[in-house]
Amino acid sequence: MDTTTTYLGLRLPHPVMPGASPLADSIDTVRRLEDAGAAAIVLRSLFEEQITREREGMLHHMEVHDESYAEAISYFPKPDEFVFGTEEYCRQIARIKEAVHLPVIASLNGYTNSGWISYAAKMQQAGADALELNSYYVATDPKQTGTEIEATAVEIVKAVKQAVTIPVAVKISPFFSSVAHMAHQLEEAGADALVLFNRFYQPDIDVEALEAVPSLHLSDSSELLLRLRWLAILFGQVKAGLAASGGVHTGLDAVKAVMAGASAVQVVSRLLQDGPQQLKVIVEGMRSWLVEHEYESLEQARGSMSLRNSPDPSAFERGNYMRVLRSWRVA
Ligand SMILES: Cc1cc2nc3c(=O)[nH]c(=O)nc-3n(C[C@H](O)[C@H](O)[C@H](O)COP(=O)(O)O)c2cc1C
Repeated sequence: MDTTTTYLGLRLPHPVMPGASPLADSIDTVRRLEDAGAAAIVLRSLFEEQITREREGMLHHMEVHDESYAEAISYFPKPDEFVFGTEEYCRQIARIKEAVHLPVIASLNGYTNSGWISYAAKMQQAGADALELNSYYVATDPKQTGTEIEATAVEIVKAVKQAVTIPVAVKISPFFSSVAHMAHQLEEAGADALVLFNRFYQPDIDVEALEAVPSLHLSDSSELLLRLRWLAILFGQVKAGLAASGGVHTGLDAVKAVMAGASAVQVVSRLLQDGPQQLKVIVEGMRSWLVEHEYESLEQARGSMSLRNSPDPSAFERGNYMRVLRSWRVA
């Protein structure tokens, strides 16, 4: 069974890899992931706020006179709450490259088209084989249009592509009015791959303390469905590689992601819950399923359940929507 795949120009033995998370924080865990057969490894993100504030020295000397700016700054974690500072992040890339033979994908996370982007070059110099760019942003200003937000995201990709020669993946949100158009624009801007999707961590309300409390629930396989839909829609419509991120917990989940069109399958929650060795379980589950169902290669399965040959994917989606609603009968 040939499970090889190409993602971000990297020839990989199979598509399964840990996604951006604390899983690459310790070399010991990285070694365990390599032993479990990880195809590559994605580091946690380095944030724009870390880079710009460190540069401006503001994290250390917060003599801020503008009150609203002072309040905004107070929302961000303090420097010692980040696992890696900017320099330490690059050292971690180099340490991982030295310790294991896995391709390393560094992650940059920011939302403005400004100076922090040049840090991408440092990640490349530190040995990153590719970058994953995440522009997590919740638009709250009623005067800011969707077009403006999209334009900024596209400009960031262009700027990062200019700063590096290694391939760049863009991890996107599922909340654009037209995900397909956004995907197309990002590809035009130079994105070599798209990672579907970012997960939005919604704070809960502590009604006693009158506080918004951050909540981090790990995923389950039901979250994969949103990814499957968009992988299936985008496959064949964009040339950029596609990666699934969100809701992959089993070998069968990985098979579905590939059938929908993924060249790479990222896993985080499952590995955080049950340990790095689960990666091997997922890869073996995927491989056994393909063998049992007489596939000769992963490539044969890739995109087989996509909508690339559908004359009108929107009509398909709408038809499906109506059929699902009609399937429920009140007893
Ligand atoms: C503890 C934790 C830390 C994460 N850190 C990052 C990060 O730094 N950058 C990023 O792009 N995604 C981050 N993610 C999101 C994951 O990469 C992934 O997209 C998400 O967990 C969905 O995949 P899953 O269902 O396999 O968990 C994090 C997720 C978790 C649970």
